[in-house]
Amino acid sequence: MSGGVVEMINYKTLFSEDVACFRSSPIREVLKNVDISKIYSFSGGYPAPETFPLKSLNSLTQRVVDKYGDKTLQYGDTRGVPEFRKAIAERYDLDVEKVQITSSSQQGIDVCARILLNPGDVVLCENPCYLGALNSFYSYQAEVVGLDLSQSFEASQRRVEEVEKLLAEGKKIKFFYVIPDFQNPGGHTLSLAQRAEIVSLARRFGFLIVEDSPYREIRFEGEDVASIYSIAPDITLHLGSISKVFAPGLRLGWVIAEPELLNTIFVCKQSLDLCPNILSQYLALEFLESGELDKNLLESRKIYKRKRDKLESLLEKYLPEGSSWTQPQGGLFIFVTLPESLDVTALFPEAIKRGVAYVPGSYFFTDGSHRNTMRLSFSFIDEEKMETGMEILSKLLKENL
Ligand SMILES: Cc1ncc(COP(=O)(O)O)c(C=O)c1O
Repeated sequence: MSGGVVEMINYKTLFSEDVACFRSSPIREVLKNVDISKIYSFSGGYPAPETFPLKSLNSLTQRVVDKYGDKTLQYGDTRGVPEFRKAIAERYDLDVEKVQITSSSQQGIDVCARILLNPGDVVLCENPCYLGALNSFYSYQAEVVGLDLSQSFEASQRRVEEVEKLLAEGKKIKFFYVIPDFQNPGGHTLSLAQRAEIVSLARRFGFLIVEDSPYREIRFEGEDVASIYSIAPDITLHLGSISKVFAPGLRLGWVIAEPELLNTIFVCKQSLDLCPNILSQYLALEFLESGELDKNLLESRKIYKRKRDKLESLLEKYLPEGSSWTQPQGGLFIFVTLPESLDVTALFPEAIKRGVAYVPGSYFFTDGSHRNTMRLSFSFIDEEKMETGMEILSKLLKENL
């Protein structure tokens, strides 16, 4: 201090207590100086660029401007553009009052956390779980408890005991966060029985369910399983996204829930962003109403199936003996378990150096365990590049067995 003026401000002394709980994604930290278009990337959950409707974007935009004029660039309703909310409500056969548009499903996760969590509250989730959600919950100083959702009488008993233990310790469980369709990172889909069990746990112990389902429409095999929302609409907040069915760059999603819950999100969002991106909503509306979204989805599912098949055949060819992996019927990810001796969390920087990227599976476990697992995304990488990428990865793994 000189002459009453602070010369050097230590910013850290001014940060809120919440900031100490922020966790940066290790994936983004490692990749922040890497141009993923220049490496063999099985890492990020990026949609296949070839699914983007680039060729029709000019005409789509022109139609939107012609139809809606200056409304496309104006502020709008916090709940979302009325025509877009209505279109989402119609697509999923809902009352429009149950739809809140968000600036992406990541924001959907964050507003659910923001309206429900106090420091010390518990969020239950599947272990492993989507990192973007875990980091949001941690930022509200929540305790995240990861559960094994495997289907057996004993596993089911263990889950009830875990919940009872938490309650006996005086903890407050606010919600179960779950990605039932083509999970991130697992790639698997929960059966109807697993979904029903989560609902019965929630009803028995009085908490909500946040059902995050951005991949639901990217099913390229098998039959749809009823959404948790359709089984228990009164206790579920269902999150959807335009990211995987149109483009993540539009940053658009929605929360479907009881109006009483949405009213709180409506107020919360007023201080977050006033309203979701208006132009994005009109583009998504036109894409949906013109039938282009469904047409594009048909093509996208074929692309994803082809890429999944290709990656699976390469895993068969290149992974060391004793490896196993999930067989997703949709979505973007395959989860790989390697022989115990392989620590792919430790090998990650070396993999990047050699020009191949995956996501260490341990990042998705609440206790950082399972260092012999990794998530591979088959969506972003060019099909022609997959084999060279797998060759590099395989060499690295075999050298470190
Ligand atoms: C399970 C899950 N939820 C939410 C998101 C975020 O999606 P959005 O682009 O809608 O924010 C992702 C992104 O990969 C995801 O995997």
